[in-house]
Amino acid sequence: MKRFGMLTSGGDCQALNATMRGVAKGLETLFGNVEIYGFLDGYKGLIYGNYKKMKPMDFSGILSKGGTILGTSRVPFKELDNPTEDGVDKVPAMIKTYKKLDLDCLIVLGGNGSQKTANRLYQEGLNVIGLPKTIDNDIWGTDMTFGFYSAVDVATHAIDCIYTTAESHSRVFVVETMGHKVGWITLYAGVAGGADVILLPEIPYDIKKVKKTIDKRMKQGKKFTIIVAAEGAIPKEIAKLPKKERKAKLAESTYPSVAYEIADKIRESFAGDVRVALPGHTQRGGAPDAYDRIISSRFGAKAAELIRDEDFGKLVVYLNNEVTAIPLEETAGKLKYVDPDCQMIKEAKSLGISFGD
Ligand code: F6P
Repeated sequence: MKRFGMLTSGGDCQALNATMRGVAKGLETLFGNVEIYGFLDGYKGLIYGNYKKMKPMDFSGILSKGGTILGTSRVPFKELDNPTEDGVDKVPAMIKTYKKLDLDCLIVLGGNGSQKTANRLYQEGLNVIGLPKTIDNDIWGTDMTFGFYSAVDVATHAIDCIYTTAESHSRVFVVETMGHKVGWITLYAGVAGGADVILLPEIPYDIKKVKKTIDKRMKQGKKFTIIVAAEGAIPKEIAKLPKKERKAKLAESTYPSVAYEIADKIRESFAGDVRVALPGHTQRGGAPDAYDRIISSRFGAKAAELIRDEDFGKLVVYLNNEVTAIPLEETAGKLKYVDPDCQMIKEAKSLGISFGD
């Protein structure tokens, strides 16, 4: 009987369970009876040999369940060759667990860092298949990751709710969405929520331009403004500093997060009421939407197919409307950023949305 290991790694997101269900169903269809071992809390489970032998029932009724039935954790790739706090060498320990269970393949549901580790394990000789998880949609090589659209839905709902109260009270609101390095959620939710200003990590902003949009709206009789800013939105003057100085400057900030800083800067010359709203981890929570349930189920079926074909070392991806796969080593270590000159940014600008640039 074939034996497979499965784990969910990194920040959680919607549709992790739906993806595992898809893989389990696909494997069952292609191989008949299989043994699936679920590693608990991501790579930690593989390191310490903490796992659960999954029963078919474990994958039942979880298509619409948020979170992950296996638990997750972050084991940073850059610390992979450093031992754990209790002195365990991570990579040899993971290989040992894999071999002890005599696995035919390890299935990794994870984002950028997790897929780098998956690639490393493949290079170490394990059979590995990756599935692209993250609300950020920033995995290079795939047009879509599971979790993204559900997060966009949550963020859009948050903007919708802020919109009505902002309008009632004639307030400026800065809504902060997730995304430290990339702004996909912010761009999509910003457009979906009718934001007036969208601030992305990829497009450093000039606060004067942001204020100009508020003033212009005031003159038009629109007394409220919605600014949607990514966690990693960055002012122009800081973005142009060399990397080391930029990091030091950002670390100096005493604000809880960027939205508070942006709000304060607006208050310096704006007499109206400026407020902050943070949907935070709600963006990763709750049930996956229909889109994510579909894409994750398709990803799961594809993963099973790759395993049947012994086509290991691959990441399942969605490219040009097709579910396909690319080598893990091709994507490892690369991020998919929002191109400031892409069509969607141009369209958003033609709708009158300011990017503060
Ligand atoms: O990568 C997913 C993500 O939700 C990012 O958008 C966010 O910046 C980060 O994780 C938050 O991480 P944590 O849950 O560790 O606070």
